[in-house]
Amino acid sequence: MAAAALSLFLLFQLLLLPARHALATTTAGDAHPGYAGAEAETCGPEPGNGGPMGRRRHGPALEEYGGGRIVDITHPYRADLPAFATGATIGPLVRLKDSMLNGSEYNLSELRMECHLGTHVDAPGHMNQAHFAAGLDVDTLDLATLNGPALLVDVQRHTNITAEAMESLNIPKGVRRVLFRTLNTDKGLMWKAGGDMSFVGFTKDGADWLVDNTDIKLVGLDYLSVASFEHSVPAHVVFFKNADIILVEALKLDNIKAGLYMLHCLPLRLVGSEGSPVRCILIK
Ligand SMILES: *[C@@H]1O[C@H](CO)[C@@H](O)[C@H](O)[C@H]1NC(C)=O
Ligand SMILES: *[C@@H]1O[C@H](CO)[C@@H](O)[C@H](O)[C@H]1NC(C)=O
Ligand SMILES: *[C@@H]1O[C@H](CO)[C@@H](O)[C@H](O)[C@H]1NC(C)=O
Repeated sequence: MAAAALSLFLLFQLLLLPARHALATTTAGDAHPGYAGAEAETCGPEPGNGGPMGRRRHGPALEEYGGGRIVDITHPYRADLPAFATGATIGPLVRLKDSMLNGSEYNLSELRMECHLGTHVDAPGHMNQAHFAAGLDVDTLDLATLNGPALLVDVQRHTNITAEAMESLNIPKGVRRVLFRTLNTDKGLMWKAGGDMSFVGFTKDGADWLVDNTDIKLVGLDYLSVASFEHSVPAHVVFFKNADIILVEALKLDNIKAGLYMLHCLPLRLVGSEGSPVRCILIK
């Protein structure tokens, strides 16, 4: 058993090598993109030139993604992420199950979290019992919906996403993926532990309007729920009436220009789960 674990450990070491190399070439002033300012939000060169910051630090693979820039719109999974309840705490997400400091031959981490923590997707079974019973878990989500052109829009800051707010956004027919940036981003809510239930999200009539008047199949938002707290259940129920809408919640949309991007979201294949952590990136 120990030998098997050890060889698994060595395999992981090998897999990690390129990443380690990338980290090693990162200079002190060149912090992890998740924690630095706007300039560090992207990887790859500025369009047209190499950029001032040696942006190749994440690898030479420009041509591998069409010469675009990668923008990570996933929040780091931290122990102090906000929870969907005022004052709730999360505790450690990743902890060492076995530790070399405690005499083990290897370090082995364990992950423990709710499936709706941090940046995550909701599957139709989240608030629709028939869909849950039909097995519409995160493993059945359509990768073609989760990956493709997406519009990042700014919602007017004085309102929740009502029918009126939706209408005023003038999202063209044919647009299938929209990331809604709101007051939540301005307030930095995802960086505040404990949860703030006054966050902005869809009201029931806003969700109705989207379903009835647009072709949107992927709805992304910048806090823990696409639906406002007050309308949490009714708005989700509207989105999940048909099983073809995917909700992506708690996206990190700071310091990115509104506009059209290629979106890539890859949830984990958690069989039986109605939610999953997801890594989402934009390519401009
Ligand atoms: C190491 O062992 C001590 C004592 O059993 C325990 O308190 C500590 O949490 C362990 N640390 C790790 C990283 O496993
Ligand atoms: C193993 O985990 C300990 C913390 O228990 C850490 O100090 C040490 O650097 C880790 N070793 C490796 C090889 O990652
Ligand atoms: C959005 O709705 C919540 C209730 O769910 C409320 O607390 C908040 O003030 C509203 N925000 C705006 C900008 O209207």
